[in-house]
Amino acid sequence: MVAIAILAAGRGTRMKSSLPKVLHSLGGRSLLQRTLDSCQLVNPLLRLIIVGYQGDQVQKALENSPDLQFVEQKEQLGTGHAVMQLLPYLQDFTGDLLVLNGDVPLLRPETIENLLHIHKSNQNGATLLSAYLNDPTGYGRVFCNGNNLVTQIIEHRDCNTAQKQNHRINGGIYCFNWPKLAQVLPQLTPNNKQNEYYLTDVVTLLSPVMAVDVEDYSEISGINDRIQLASAHQILQTRVKEDWMKAGVTLINPESITIDDTVKLEPDVIIEPQTHLRGQTVIKSGCHIGPGSFIENSHLEADVTVRYSVVSDSHVLSGTNIGPYSHLRGQVQVGTNCRIGNFVELKKTTLGNKTNVAHLSYLGNATVGNQVNIGAGTITANYDGVSKHQSQIGDRTKTGANSVLVAPITLGNDVTVAAGSVATHDVPDGALVIARQRQRIIPDWIQS
Ligand code: UD1
Ligand code: CA
Repeated sequence: MVAIAILAAGRGTRMKSSLPKVLHSLGGRSLLQRTLDSCQLVNPLLRLIIVGYQGDQVQKALENSPDLQFVEQKEQLGTGHAVMQLLPYLQDFTGDLLVLNGDVPLLRPETIENLLHIHKSNQNGATLLSAYLNDPTGYGRVFCNGNNLVTQIIEHRDCNTAQKQNHRINGGIYCFNWPKLAQVLPQLTPNNKQNEYYLTDVVTLLSPVMAVDVEDYSEISGINDRIQLASAHQILQTRVKEDWMKAGVTLINPESITIDDTVKLEPDVIIEPQTHLRGQTVIKSGCHIGPGSFIENSHLEADVTVRYSVVSDSHVLSGTNIGPYSHLRGQVQVGTNCRIGNFVELKKTTLGNKTNVAHLSYLGNATVGNQVNIGAGTITANYDGVSKHQSQIGDRTKTGANSVLVAPITLGNDVTVAAGSVATHDVPDGALVIARQRQRIIPDWIQS
């Protein structure tokens, strides 16, 4: 039986932020959400989140995660004090308690699983994750006897010069035998430079306590300030990009590319420099994205190309070409083998197959058929200042350069719109619409 507790009550002073530290985002998910997600292989009886500083905001940020229990730590008197708040909640609990600092977002689920396994098979009083760091500044130092049995943890600021030479650090991830921990928690004292109750002090009161070194020390990087946030982002990016390259994705100049770990790619996708893939994006095989593109929460089917463009909350079918300088602003569906060209903006618009919007257009709230050619500079005037209106454009219709379609409007199939027209009324199938002034010529305008 396991319960999970995540420590998320601290303000995170070193972030110098009005946002609680654990809510800062790392690649699209908060530090806290990531910490929570790293426990996905554990099947706990309870998941307890200890909140304090702006607790309401923290609670709200997790409202979509089911089955969480929030425990308030009114005053933030240290990590030991935070865990003391659990005593009334776990009175009859006799299992193990997994405790995670809410600011350690790069843990792999397998690492947590392994920690639990080692804890249980050795019947330890406590087991914790540790690592040797080249630069251990700021971390608590783990002192062990020869068998990885922990004798003491001393915080960086409380270490003397000799103790600082120990580079084995405490990751802030622990598994405790709860009944044993519950017994010793009340014995903690705030006898240190910060006058805080340190959770780490319980290791001298419990036995055996075992340190487990993680293979990849980047996993236990804690985030205390924005420099550490940035380096965690880099670690995460390296991990995500290497995984995709191993899975058959080509990244050209990967240092200039960012990919959220929620994005899904298929083999033989090519990503060019300065491209950023965010959120729930899915990109299928044969797509060629970038350079210079931003794709967010969008699905691109096979063989789509996107250059120097922004695509948000949209779905693009196979073989379509987008860019340069296109903006699919949301709720856009583009059919197969279309061409969305230079300086084209689409919003809440559906295009059929083999339809081109190649130059300088805005289409909003429009439904466009197959094999349509939207001429250069065609605009849907979809907003009357109060509400948005729909435009319907039938199959094989062609709009001339610089035409304005004043919505609501329906153009039938095979319609031709003359260049420079301002069309305000529906046009039947097969018709030509010309809605502009006839050209007048006034000769000899300049007197010589
Ligand atoms: C802590 C450990 C240190 C370890 C490091 C790993 C202690 C005393 N020290 O130090 O040994 O190397 O993590 O990253 O535990 N929190 C509360 N309530 C509080 C104080 C903190 O909930 O009263 C939460 C914070 O929100 C944070 C976590 O506990 O998520 C860790 O607190 P932090 O102040 O960052 O501890 P460190 O100084 O990093
Ligand atoms: Ca920390």
